Amino acid sequence: MAEKAVLTVGDQRYELPVLEGTEGERAIDITRLRDDTGLLTYDPALGNTAVCKSAITFIDGDKGILRYRGIPIEQFASRPNFVEVAWMLIFGRLPRQEELNRFSDLLTCNELLHEGVGYQFQHLPPGAPPMAILSATLSNLACYHPTFLAIEGEESLEEAAARLISKVRTIAAFSYRRALGLPFNYPDPRLRYCANFLHMMFSIPYQQYIVTPEVEDALNLVFILHGDHEQNCSTSTARVVGSAKANLFASCAAAVCALWGPLHGGANVEVMEMLKRIHKGGLSPEDCIREAKDKTNPFRLYGFGHRVYRNYDPRAKILHEACDRVFTQLKRKDPLLDIARKLEELALSDPYFIDRKLYPNVDFYSGILLRAIGIPTDMFTVCFAIGRLPGWIAQWKEQHDDPTSKICRPRQVYTGPNETDYLPMEKR
Ligand code: CMC
Repeated sequence: MAEKAVLTVGDQRYELPVLEGTEGERAIDITRLRDDTGLLTYDPALGNTAVCKSAITFIDGDKGILRYRGIPIEQFASRPNFVEVAWMLIFGRLPRQEELNRFSDLLTCNELLHEGVGYQFQHLPPGAPPMAILSATLSNLACYHPTFLAIEGEESLEEAAARLISKVRTIAAFSYRRALGLPFNYPDPRLRYCANFLHMMFSIPYQQYIVTPEVEDALNLVFILHGDHEQNCSTSTARVVGSAKANLFASCAAAVCALWGPLHGGANVEVMEMLKRIHKGGLSPEDCIREAKDKTNPFRLYGFGHRVYRNYDPRAKILHEACDRVFTQLKRKDPLLDIARKLEELALSDPYFIDRKLYPNVDFYSGILLRAIGIPTDMFTVCFAIGRLPGWIAQWKEQHDDPTSKICRPRQVYTGPNETDYLPMEKR
């Protein structure tokens, strides 16, 4: 017999169905709660609330497990191919060779921006935050691709996804070039996804940037590890916006804004600032840990802690190993990596972090790897966004394809004044 949860309020007893996911996660279904009981549930940061059923990503936060479409994240680390993972996240299975070729071709033929979009960059002040540019320009794509304001069917979704996933790196690279007052590099159709992005970022007139296989693999890996992470803040934003039947461009642009926050994707920038501050001698690793534990200080140990993981974030583990590997391959050293290791060691032996189960998250080592690739700090969160875009699209598609999907409209517990009269100005 199907399991039920029992809720007793006063002398009333209500039975609530219990749902079970494919990995045994159980959830009390309260969809009829208000109609049947008049009651709401209160869960302000949604820490205990499943807002959807999803078949894209599985996380076991206690065990430190992350899987995309059932495949453990570690299996994507040995031969990383971001485009393959992107397609798989969106369409639910690994692509066959011809499907991957078709999608890669679609990316290539959509890599240019309409010249009108390019002109908009000219009117931005130098030093404009690249995340602001990214969000605004993704939203602007709706003006240039009106066919995709209403997406019906897999083919149309694939076309729209290819436009977004391809153009996002052109927009990102243009925003970087604009900030430095450098000419834009048009995408090169002969290059693969990551190499093309690095070319647009770093080639200069008469001097083509040549990517090494180590660097190309490292960037592929960074993008893949950020690919999806179930109902995180930016993805939930994409879903909330999409739930109103807003278009894919608008939903992804909104997700970029959420990602920008320092508690979410912006944490990779905060980690780098923290490591640099320690390196310059402004703060010792011990002081940094002390400040992070001080409840009167808003500072946090950035790159540590997670709403879902109560164990080592598997992405941080892969990135830490990748840092060691890439620095050896490139025959380089970075003092910030040593500082990060020291901070990790101090935190993981400190009762404050042990008791609260705070471990390194994806943002702790990603910046060091991006720095080794040559990416400047203010582009870190943009790189997170490029990686996460397939995840937002996959989640938007899943919601869009679900005939039972409804507009997201949470309730509240009102705590304001009871009914009161309007006072004319002279009586206030
Ligand atoms: N440094 C110091 N204390 C921390 C930290 C930290 N990084 N993270 C959590 N805590 C403490 C927090 O003060 C609280 O202590 P107490 O129980 O005494 O009040 C306890 O640990 C639980 O934290 P919380 O804020 O209730 O946890 P949350 O699930 O609401 O927040 C988080 C999760 C990721 C926002 C938080 O851990 C954090 O602010 N970390 C630093 C920012 C960061 O690295 N963000 C990236 C997250 S992973 C990638 C992504 O999503 O983009």
